[in-house]
Amino acid sequence: MRSNLVVAIDGYSSCGKSTLAKALAKHLGFIYIDSGAMYRAVTLYFIRNHIDIADQAAVEDALQHIELNFHSRDYQSHILLNGEEVSEEIRQMPVSEAVSEVSAIKAVRHDMVKQQQRMGRSKNIVMDGRDIGTAVFKDAQVKLFMTADPKIRAERRYKELAAKGDETITLEDVFENLAHRDFADTTRKESPLVRAEDAIILDNTDLTEAQQLQFAIEKIIPFLENTKH
Ligand code: DC
Repeated sequence: MRSNLVVAIDGYSSCGKSTLAKALAKHLGFIYIDSGAMYRAVTLYFIRNHIDIADQAAVEDALQHIELNFHSRDYQSHILLNGEEVSEEIRQMPVSEAVSEVSAIKAVRHDMVKQQQRMGRSKNIVMDGRDIGTAVFKDAQVKLFMTADPKIRAERRYKELAAKGDETITLEDVFENLAHRDFADTTRKESPLVRAEDAIILDNTDLTEAQQLQFAIEKIIPFLENTKH
């Protein structure tokens, strides 16, 4: 039994995983780790350095030159790629369009999972992603699997991008990107997105953020008493 508490949140793209994970971390005083940001930062590095993802040696070599770090401000997670803050850039479409292919590469997953396991070795954490409850922390005490109506998800993501001033993107682009990523993430060979048998389903199509937080906290409370802080 681990002495630190791990909350694993998996689910489809743009389901509000990170919103819930951040709110939970803030509420509980846990560390939030956005595993998707790590795959996105690797993707950005590959794009910038023209790494051919079909070339295994080139991919493995590139991974040796990537250092990822998080720093947290107000429970917003910021990711540094070789010391450079890239949190904004990794959310833009060029990265979103390539990230599923990059995250399907075995060597990439191996490297990321190792780093994620190290981050969750001793501290209480909330980590969100696609394989947290099935591969990274199979022994997480609380596992949530998030889902929502695809149209609602696309609308939420579109509004987010539009609010950041991205006027080139249409709702259809976002919908197609989500459908593509859902398909790629659930059908890939290496740890595909699948609900862990012991994960609790959270469909947030009709739930407010406060309701989701309440739902998750109720599932976590029984474990808080047994865990040292
Ligand atoms: O959570 P996100 O949308 O920022 O994740 C971006 C991509 O990274 C997603 O399409 C699949 C991949 N990913 C993954 O394969 N495993 C994770 N644990 C997290 C993300």
